[in-house]
Amino acid sequence: MVREWDPRTASSDEIGSVLETLNAVLAADLPQDPPWREGSLREYLSEVMPGERRISWVAEGSPDPDGTPGRILGHVHVLLLGDIGVLEVLVHPSVRRTGLGRQLVLTAARRVYQEGFRSIGVEVVGDTPAVAFYESLGFAREYVETRSVLDLTSVDWPALTEMAGGVGAGYHLEFCPGGPPDELIEAYARAKAEVRDVGDGELRPSSYDPQRLRDSLDTLHRRGMKPYIVLALHEQTGEVAGLTEVVVPAQHPTRADQYDTIVVQDHRGYGIDRAIKARMLLELRSAEPELVEVQTWNAQANEAMLKVNAELGYRPDREWCEYSVDVAELVHRLDPTR
Ligand SMILES: CC(C)(COP(=O)(O)OP(=O)(O)OC[C@H]1O[C@@H](n2cnc3c(N)ncnc32)[C@H](O)[C@@H]1OP(=O)(O)O)[C@@H](O)C(=O)NCCC(=O)NCCS
Repeated sequence: MVREWDPRTASSDEIGSVLETLNAVLAADLPQDPPWREGSLREYLSEVMPGERRISWVAEGSPDPDGTPGRILGHVHVLLLGDIGVLEVLVHPSVRRTGLGRQLVLTAARRVYQEGFRSIGVEVVGDTPAVAFYESLGFAREYVETRSVLDLTSVDWPALTEMAGGVGAGYHLEFCPGGPPDELIEAYARAKAEVRDVGDGELRPSSYDPQRLRDSLDTLHRRGMKPYIVLALHEQTGEVAGLTEVVVPAQHPTRADQYDTIVVQDHRGYGIDRAIKARMLLELRSAEPELVEVQTWNAQANEAMLKVNAELGYRPDREWCEYSVDVAELVHRLDPTR
């Protein structure tokens, strides 16, 4: 049975059941990824940016003969964001290829259509069943990134210390656990705005204006995801010349996510990219003792960044793709009676 589900009011048994399904999916599809923990999972599934909405449904197995409710074997949510609905679907490996995935997509797609949105996007991990699944539903591939993973036990720490100090004269680095200080938010937003057109995917938009940036940091904290930032400041102007962002999620605190790294055009060629990333790893080593890996996503065309990541020890892992589909076409394909 598929029913609409609100993670804010769900019982802790239900949250636990979603977690079990998520971890069974990870074990089947991405066995090298760490299993998720319950820490802030409810908040992760509930909290959104101002102006966005997430709607969720679950599919339950049959109840036990003693009346115990069935486990949650499927989960779908759609984040209504701008003019697109961003979909995420999970089906427990024990019940795959029975049509449940298709049913969950249809449920969410009907709602997205009713809400007046025209397209649905989804992130699809390369080399998993999701590729054939979404292609069978008519989704088209829009954008491809490579995920790379850094194993912190293999890092050459003395070399990294040298890299962190290798920034040109006239710049200094600042470590900001929790996010940039409020007095630097505007300069920070300006640095991010400069690269807004450089090949970002659409499903994980960055925040470019100061208020949106504050909202986005606040949302991360509410979802149990702790941001860390290293800034390169240009001493003469006080401008943010470069920045790098890493988030440590309570749901998988042994593996952090590298978000944006930006070096503003006028400040390229001074070793900032290498230095801020190296400094970040050095800081995380003491700030997050549980951390053993960092993962990052890069457009395949971004050769300069791939080169720095390779020097730091990142290893390419797999493709990470964005797919999209026209909602009306999807609903029609899945339910031709309408
Ligand atoms: C992708 C996923 C949702 C599919 O769920 P499902 O219930 O097995 O899908 P369905 O049974 O509705 O399949 C519909 C169609 O998709 C295609 N398909 C699905 N899985 C496939 C596979 N492994 N190989 C080839 N085609 C496949 C088939 O055309 C299938 O129709 P058919 O069974 O009649 O041939 C499921 O595998 C899943 O949860 N994957 C994890 C997704 C994810 O987000 N992962 C991220 C963290 S790892």
